[in-house]
Amino acid sequence: MQPLTDPFGRIHDYLRISVTDRCNLRCIYCMPAEGMQFQPQDEIMSYEEITAVVKALAPLGLRKIRLTGGEPLVRKDLEKLVAMLAAIPGIDDIALTTNGLMLPAKAQLLKEAGLSRVNISLDSLRQERFSMITRGGDVHKVLQGIEAADAAGLHPIKLNVVLMKGINDDEIKDFISLTLNSPLNVRFIEYMPIGSASDSWRKSYLPLETVLEACHEAGWETEEAHMIAGNGPSQNRRVIGAQGTFGLIHPVSDHFCDNCNRLRLTADGHIKACLYWSDEYHVRPLTGDPEAMQALFRKALGNKPANHEMALALEQKAQSHTPTVRRMSQIGG
Ligand code: GTP
Ligand code: 5AD
Ligand code: SF4
Repeated sequence: MQPLTDPFGRIHDYLRISVTDRCNLRCIYCMPAEGMQFQPQDEIMSYEEITAVVKALAPLGLRKIRLTGGEPLVRKDLEKLVAMLAAIPGIDDIALTTNGLMLPAKAQLLKEAGLSRVNISLDSLRQERFSMITRGGDVHKVLQGIEAADAAGLHPIKLNVVLMKGINDDEIKDFISLTLNSPLNVRFIEYMPIGSASDSWRKSYLPLETVLEACHEAGWETEEAHMIAGNGPSQNRRVIGAQGTFGLIHPVSDHFCDNCNRLRLTADGHIKACLYWSDEYHVRPLTGDPEAMQALFRKALGNKPANHEMALALEQKAQSHTPTVRRMSQIGG
């Protein structure tokens, strides 16, 4: 069968599935201070419906799944969904993006169910600051989550650090130091203007050249690093001699859309062919009909724009389509 291609010839083999819009933290760049009106339970896709979507796409070349949220582990018995997806022929990589808080309780169960690996969000190593960014989180619990993932063999472990000017940019060296004696992959991510108050984004956005400058200041020589599981957007480097690696994810200053292989499914069952734009297609009513689902995914891809225009937002210029009004917590990043 025809693979999942778009008008620009990009082949899509990676589906990011948001399983819930709820979270046990409220990060400043992701959710408003007052919290969110969460989607009602009956609007959220069941595990059976999600599995039906993946079964319909696997014959079209889908091979990689990432479960996201909100915080995916607040969804009850997530390991059951992992086991259902792992049983689908063709799906050979199931990963999870999590804040790590529930990994001590869940890592082993997830591994046994067929989860391949985890990416853990961690924007500061300092308790007071971590608590400010997450509005109340305990960094020690995340560190315990990282240990639990390691003990369960959910490798390689990647850490996601959203870099924010004046908030955590003085911790770049501390984060890279983590990679010197451990096989972690620490990825610095440019703050994206998605669903967040645009003023806070404009104040906090920092291009990732800052990371390479910090390496230079520290006297670290770095080299390109390959062979890290996954085919997401991170460009990876290593301090020469280090066990681990660090990565740069720079959607704003230099987009990676030419190689985009990603589709998204929101917790309420909408297909998003691109993270950034508002275009959505409701697949949930079609979960009983594999061919209709395939056709809707092809339609979404048929209208997928060539790229986002976040840099225009940075310059406060008009954009060609409408950016999404969904919050990051409703898309899953
Ligand atoms: P692997 O490479 O498989 O480990 O995954 P990943 O890096 O794609 O996943 P993760 O959920 O850890 O995402 C890391 C960061 O990259 C998050 O901030 C995402 O929002 C961002 N990201 C992932 N895919 C895209 C994309 O298609 N476009 C943009 N603009 N950002 C993305
Ligand atoms: N810009 C960049 N990354 C973001 N994430 C959430 N919101 C943003 C944003 N505005 C990251 C989270 C998580 C991943 C899924 O996306 O930190 O690691
Ligand atoms: Fe793909 Fe859109 Fe992300 Fe660009 S912004 S890499 S087109 S999902």
